[in-house]
Amino acid sequence: MTTPNITSVLKETRVFPVPEAFAAAAHVTADEHRRLTEWADRDPDGFWGHHAESLHWFQKWDRVFDGSNPPFFKWFTGGTTNASYNCLDRHLNGPHKNKAAIIWEGEPGDTRTLTYQQLHHQVCKFANGLKQLGVGKGDRVTIYMPMTPEAAIAMLACARIGAVHSVVFGGFSAEAVADRNNDAKAKLIITADIGWRRGNAVHLKQNVDEALAKSPTVEKCVVFNRARNTSVHMKPGRDIWWHDLMSDVSADCPAEELDSEHPLFVLYTSGSTGKPKGVLHTTGGYLLGASLTHRWVFDLRDDDVYWCTADVGWVTGHSYIVYGPLANAATVVMYEGAPNHPKEDRFWGIIAKYGVTILYTAPTAIRAFIKWGDQHPNAHDLSSLRLLGSVGEPINPEAWMWYHDVIGKGRCPIVDTWWQTETGAILIAPLPGAIPTKPGSATKPLPGIAAAVVDKDGNDVPANSGGFLVVKRPWPSLMRTIYGDDERFKATYWSQYPQGYYFTADGARQDEDGFIWVMGRVDDVLNVSGHRLSTMEVESALVNHPKVAEAAVVGKPDEIKGEAICCFVTVKQGVTVSDSLKDELKKHVAKEIGALARPDEVRFTDSLPKTRSGKIMRRLLRDIAAGREGKQDTTTLEDFSVLAKLRGDEE
Ligand code: WT7
Repeated sequence: MTTPNITSVLKETRVFPVPEAFAAAAHVTADEHRRLTEWADRDPDGFWGHHAESLHWFQKWDRVFDGSNPPFFKWFTGGTTNASYNCLDRHLNGPHKNKAAIIWEGEPGDTRTLTYQQLHHQVCKFANGLKQLGVGKGDRVTIYMPMTPEAAIAMLACARIGAVHSVVFGGFSAEAVADRNNDAKAKLIITADIGWRRGNAVHLKQNVDEALAKSPTVEKCVVFNRARNTSVHMKPGRDIWWHDLMSDVSADCPAEELDSEHPLFVLYTSGSTGKPKGVLHTTGGYLLGASLTHRWVFDLRDDDVYWCTADVGWVTGHSYIVYGPLANAATVVMYEGAPNHPKEDRFWGIIAKYGVTILYTAPTAIRAFIKWGDQHPNAHDLSSLRLLGSVGEPINPEAWMWYHDVIGKGRCPIVDTWWQTETGAILIAPLPGAIPTKPGSATKPLPGIAAAVVDKDGNDVPANSGGFLVVKRPWPSLMRTIYGDDERFKATYWSQYPQGYYFTADGARQDEDGFIWVMGRVDDVLNVSGHRLSTMEVESALVNHPKVAEAAVVGKPDEIKGEAICCFVTVKQGVTVSDSLKDELKKHVAKEIGALARPDEVRFTDSLPKTRSGKIMRRLLRDIAAGREGKQDTTTLEDFSVLAKLRGDEE
């Protein structure tokens, strides 16, 4: 753990009270927030048990919480439920049957709307299709799809029959798909011929073909035909068109009654060491977290048109496009493509066209919008908006103010939501009718969440001192384990604090009002455009290039991406360095991991700065990459001449 550096964080003093009109109509007021928080602290089981009643249970639980084998906690034991049933079936016998569940827009401009009834019909058929292909309860299914309703249908169909989905973001490479197939021992993969991104076709099926050559456990591949005119290779006996599978299956598929702790999905995310971790979430607790926080944080109303701009390949898409909103019978807008295609006003056009009331997006997108200019949002009617959300990284106060003024016209509260793939659901955020906001702060833990800022021994730190963000008590949507690696789960999240605190790997401070200011990761994990990437993954991609001897990867501040990827590379003997080799290495990393990992900068060096014990001095490299004059102690540096050379290399 590196000690978080807080000296660089300017003190932000602006406070925005809850708008009166908003507070008057909000589900959770300031008084209610206080009552809920006190209740949860006094009687966590009673509190969570009460809220779990909002889900449908085939059989009610015997116990709310089983903490007998930490850190392997169980929630709602003895209860049976089904996520797909909660997101679909229970909405069919009332006013929501014909409500729009998903309003979808493809990047080329094609649109579709699926009501709850229609979505249910599709999910049931696809679930039967999966069964026909031999998928059963507990089997793992990889989903590598563009942002089309079929991605959600595939997820809900898996959930319906108790299969465990593992969604892999469409921007990842064939290599990454194969790694995830193998780690999860996936039996089947669902993909599409292509997806659209900034006017270009993303060749998903082609990547899958490459991946399946290295994925011995995958028996079948279902292919959704997104671009009706592309001819993709279909391997007889293995590959099946989505529409063929759907053509002769029944729409009668009762949801499996699953144990509350039945695995719902695995989602791979980067850690500081080793290969990506398969974060495992189970059914009851996860669904409670996703649905309750979606209702609370977005102050959801029946007539809202809610748009989360994330991709289903990330946890935000899981919890806040699919499971949370659909469990709440919300109307969800889903958009396939880039925010600047065909022009930089695409988002604002979508908001005006569908009358979006809640927008949930990321700081990196907001920073790009600022750069593209106010004329784009100003050209559209954004008056339907009533609430704005942010997720993925700390939002810088300037971006917050722009979001507030230019998009929200000063009317809409901003909910800055802190959470992680591991936490399943939002843990720290203002409830917009209850908590005033401060630009750059995720504000307060939600009721029931014992988040705190502590020192390395677990003591609470004084106000405004930096420390580590931990959660002192388990909560229902916490991940259950790392798929297939209980030991790594314990070591990564539970070994830091013998008190049993969950370690988030984020640094934070809490101000005099108890507001939390998250300062970013304290491990070797980068946050590139709100996406988590480990420096180690990029390093191993680099060193498996035949010309590379050694590599060290660090983040450097970037105006749009938050962090850019900067690589220090030493080449093998006899290799001549050149700009074309830089390009070759960038391409190589993109091919190995995916375009999101493409390095922004490659610097060649004769050697890397190491300590006498051989550890690469990353802090030093971070300073050099950022062009900061290193202020740190370099007395442990093994070879001082390295430093001069690295600095001399700077432009
Ligand atoms: C890491 C988790 C949670 C969905 C998106 C990312 C950073 C996320 C915030 C925020 C400050 C944030 C943290 C966290 N992060 N949201 N509102 N303020 N930092 O999920 O890939 O699991 O990454 O993203 O560093 O640990 P993820």
